[in-house]
Amino acid sequence: MNDAQKILIVDDEENIRRIFKKALEKKNYTVHTAKNAEEALQKIKNQNYLLIFSDIFMDEMSGLTLLKEVKKINPQAKIVVMTAQDTMNNTIEAMRTGAYDYISKPFDFETVYALVDRVEASRDVQIPSRPKIEKEIEGHSVRSIVGKNKVMQNIFKTIGKSASSDLSVLITGESGTGKEMIAETMHYYSKRKDHPFICINCAAISRELLESELFGHEKGSFTGAVDQKKGKFEIAKGGTLFLDEIGDMELALQAKILRVLQNKDFYRVGGKEILQANVRIIAATNQNLEELMEQKRFREDLFHRLNVINISIPPLRERMEDVTLLANHFLKKNTTDLIQGETYLSSETVEILNSYSWRGNIRELENVIQRAVVLARTGPILSEHLPEHIIPDNFNTTEIDGLLSNRFRQLILEFFLKNQETKDGNIYEEIIQLVEKQLFEVALEKHSGKQISVAKALGINRNTLKRKIDAMKIEIKKISP
Ligand SMILES: Nc1ncnc2c1ncn2[C@@H]1O[C@H](COP(=O)(O)OP(=O)(O)OP(=O)(O)O)[C@@H](O)[C@H]1O
Ligand SMILES: [Mg+2]
Repeated sequence: MNDAQKILIVDDEENIRRIFKKALEKKNYTVHTAKNAEEALQKIKNQNYLLIFSDIFMDEMSGLTLLKEVKKINPQAKIVVMTAQDTMNNTIEAMRTGAYDYISKPFDFETVYALVDRVEASRDVQIPSRPKIEKEIEGHSVRSIVGKNKVMQNIFKTIGKSASSDLSVLITGESGTGKEMIAETMHYYSKRKDHPFICINCAAISRELLESELFGHEKGSFTGAVDQKKGKFEIAKGGTLFLDEIGDMELALQAKILRVLQNKDFYRVGGKEILQANVRIIAATNQNLEELMEQKRFREDLFHRLNVINISIPPLRERMEDVTLLANHFLKKNTTDLIQGETYLSSETVEILNSYSWRGNIRELENVIQRAVVLARTGPILSEHLPEHIIPDNFNTTEIDGLLSNRFRQLILEFFLKNQETKDGNIYEEIIQLVEKQLFEVALEKHSGKQISVAKALGINRNTLKRKIDAMKIEIKKISP
């Protein structure tokens, strides 16, 4: 068997190893497996693998450490990192350490096959090995970017791959899509992380002021310039300068920025001393720069200077698979300090969040969740905790809708888990009784123990309700209003 057709699977879960082996053997690969990093390293020392798939979380040595070790033995080794986590940290970290690619669990084998095909196709092409970057992002708490959408995953990869370069970046995306967050992340994953990340909003400041904000000024250079002042290019020295809303910058100033990018130096306003510009530029805009260029409102040469690495963030409505993920992320973020107890999204809320168009993108979603957490305090986030305008007109919600479906689903799931072993049980009746009991308990809770209101809300006879409550020995806690 040819060396190039061996594939190694590293995962501490036997199940994963077995499924993988089967799937790839079907495609005529020889598949070796290792249950931990140690075993994998041993195998890699003795064999050449076409591709190595490695889990990221393993007991003794993590997939990332393994990746580093393997790269020491064979810089050309291609490792695909697998993880169940949907946040960006792992992806960026993996790509930065030199992973060939990254997949998040659960994945389908079409993705795996496509990856293997790609490696096969590029087998004879020499890929220069990436320089190793051993730096940690210690001391900097970088906010976690959430997203399992393909485009977002690719953006994480781009951040990881371009972390060690000084190339200019242009980030485009609608308002609230996370442009600033991505710029900040790029900075903290770069070699400039220990120097400042400076942000300037080119839309918020008048032209004259913007020029002096950027380049600084000398004392007396214009009315009001009472002292010498450092500009952002100087303040950001060694770090990253984030030019936000660059599409709003006036042409004259665009020319000056272009000059800095070309010559890497600048003058303070009214100054004669030439100063070095040691910054990485990341620019962002929510405007369509192509259109602005057509209208001669944005310089084409500047565009090309900035657009060396392009990151175009899709609006949230084009990556709806991230909505629930993001909502849960913001829920967690907002429940830590203010609220005690458990909050979670009811299924009706999930449904509503997933049917809204999110013109304000992630920022809007974050605001909605923040507000809902305050209103709900603890327990499920229901439709009543959401702003009216995001609820579809035809959304049919009864008072106890969300509460019920979530609790019941959980209950039934638990029941199935507990009774996994019992075959052919007559569990239908049992489940119905269990659910019925929960229904009454929840409804009573919601109606402060008032049976009349519960009977009315559920649309059942109050004597029937009373009889059932007695039979089920449900304890009624009367809560005075
Ligand atoms: N993928 C993401 N995961 C988690 N939080 C995110 C993500 N994207 C954006 N956010 C959050 O959404 C909010 C808006 O992000 P950000 O300010 O970066 O957007 P922007 O594109 O710069 O918006 P604007 O154009 O309005 O300035 C921030 O609070 C940020 O923390
Ligand atoms: Mg912004």
